[in-house]
Amino acid sequence: MKQASIKVFAPATIANLACGFDTLGLAINGPGDEIIGYLTNKPGVQIEEITGGKDLPHDPTKNTAGIAAQAFLDAHGDPSIGVSMRIHKKMPNGSGLGSSAASAVAGCLLLNELLRRPFEKRQLLPFAMQGESYASKAYHADNVAPCLLGGIQLIRDNATLDVQRIFPPRGIFMAVVYPNIKMLTSEARAILKPEITLQQHIAQSANLASLIVALHNSDFPLMRRCLVDQIIEPQRSHLIPEFSKIQAMALEQGAIGCSISGAGPSIFALCSNSLIAEEIGERMKAIYKDVKIRSTVYISPINNEGAQLL
Ligand code: HSE
Repeated sequence: MKQASIKVFAPATIANLACGFDTLGLAINGPGDEIIGYLTNKPGVQIEEITGGKDLPHDPTKNTAGIAAQAFLDAHGDPSIGVSMRIHKKMPNGSGLGSSAASAVAGCLLLNELLRRPFEKRQLLPFAMQGESYASKAYHADNVAPCLLGGIQLIRDNATLDVQRIFPPRGIFMAVVYPNIKMLTSEARAILKPEITLQQHIAQSANLASLIVALHNSDFPLMRRCLVDQIIEPQRSHLIPEFSKIQAMALEQGAIGCSISGAGPSIFALCSNSLIAEEIGERMKAIYKDVKIRSTVYISPINNEGAQLL
């Protein structure tokens, strides 16, 4: 007899937040991955269907949701358990919005819910990381942690998944634009120089540390001075059409900060309220329309829940 299906949702995320390469990320509302699944008598993971995404593998050993679900099963230790899933991507992949992380998180959350929560939510992090690291070819939790746990997450150490929650001021809204071009995280990482100068290290670590203080104290002027990326953005921004124009417009319109979302090509503007975010979102879209690039805009507060059972 077929078991009852359940549905889980894992949100899109914005990693790096300018000065926190591989160490900071936040979750938003709206875009994300839904997975519907049920337990089966056939041990292991099966992916029945993927809708809404482009060129994603149905082979569970090559799909981030499948890999995370299998990591969950390995840790759970009952070899008779099987799960079948249908993945519905409500976000573009290769967009810089944590698509592979959302699949990975949803894959292991699905099993945790189907099996009535043998693990605490936070304990799912390493399972989701196995899926995410397969896709990005690196081990960074700045998408997976906020996707699973919600809010803003600071990753002190990726190897041990030492993850700390940062409580942001109320009212922050994000305007995010995705120009419809695809960029793979693995490729956007491969172009990065492995060395930085001492001066770059000092500036970036001072900005990251001060950003945490600014978020804690709701100090928007300090936040604006900190949301600067001296290391990664200059190496990647040329890959993103109209990046400088959009960034200049967003700051002019009152954004607290504007930079590349994750590995790109999406661009985020962090704003103190929804009105500013909506205005910036419209102008982002207009800039891309002028150069005949299709784009999608998301306006969202910070998602404090993270992935959840629907
Ligand atoms: N920190 C990662 C990067 C995020 O920028 O490569 C990828 O989404």
